[in-house]
Amino acid sequence: MADHQVKRDATRALRAIPLFSGVSDTDLESLSSLVIERRLPKHKTIVEEGAPGDYMYIICEGRVKVTKLSGDGREKILELLESGDFFGEMSLLDDAPRSASVKALSEVRILALSRNDFLSLLKNSSDLALAVVQELTRRLRQIDEQASSLSFQRVKERTQGLLVRLAKTDSKTAGRALTQALTHQQIADMIGTSRETVTRAIKGLKDDGWLEQKGKQYSVPVEAD
Ligand code: CMP
Repeated sequence: MADHQVKRDATRALRAIPLFSGVSDTDLESLSSLVIERRLPKHKTIVEEGAPGDYMYIICEGRVKVTKLSGDGREKILELLESGDFFGEMSLLDDAPRSASVKALSEVRILALSRNDFLSLLKNSSDLALAVVQELTRRLRQIDEQASSLSFQRVKERTQGLLVRLAKTDSKTAGRALTQALTHQQIADMIGTSRETVTRAIKGLKDDGWLEQKGKQYSVPVEAD
C-alpha cells in the first residue's frame, strides 16, 4: 500500500478512537506518521505478562483478550477488547512489567505507538491525558464491581452482570442488546468459575426467559434510554 494511503488510513483510524477524539487534526496527522501498523494472526500473543513494556497498541480491526495467570496456573480473562480500544499503556506509564497478557482472538490489525511517542503526546495534550485517566478510572470501577460481585453474588447473577456489561447498546432492538460472540469457557474465565457451572447458569437464564441465544452471541434485556 502507498505511504500516503497508510497515513490517511491511520489518521482516519485514530480519529475514530475515543481516546483521540480531543486531539487536534494537526496533532493527529503527526501521530499517524508515528504509529506502526501490524497485522497479527489469531492466537498470537501481542503482550506477555511480566515482560518490559515498549509499545502501546490501538485496535483497528479484530478482537483480543486480556488475561492474567492466577496462582494455581489458570488463565483469568480480565477483559475482551475490540476495534477502537487500546491496551499496553500501563507499563509505559509506570515503567513496571506488563500487568497482563494480551492475545488475539481473531486476526487483528493494530497500530503500535512507542513509549517515547506516547509519553510525549500525553505531555503535550491534556485532552489525551484526561482520556487515558478516564479509561483507567472506568477499569478501576469495573474491577471494584467485580470484586464485590465475586464475594456476594451467585454464578447466575454474575453471568447476568457480565452479559449486560458486554452487551452493546448500539446493537439494541426493542429493549434488548447483543453481546459479542462468547464461549461458556470465556464467560467462566471472566467471572472466575468452571465452564460446567456457566453452562448450568446459562440454561437457567434461558429457562427464565431472561436470556436468548443468537448464534454465538447473547441477547439480554437492557434499560430503555
Ligand atoms: P500493560 O500492563 O502495559 O500490558 C497489559 C495490558 O493489559 C495493560 O497494559 C492494559 O492495557 C491491559 N489491562 C490490564 N488490566 C486490564 C483490565 N482490568 N481491563 C482492561 N485492560 C487491562
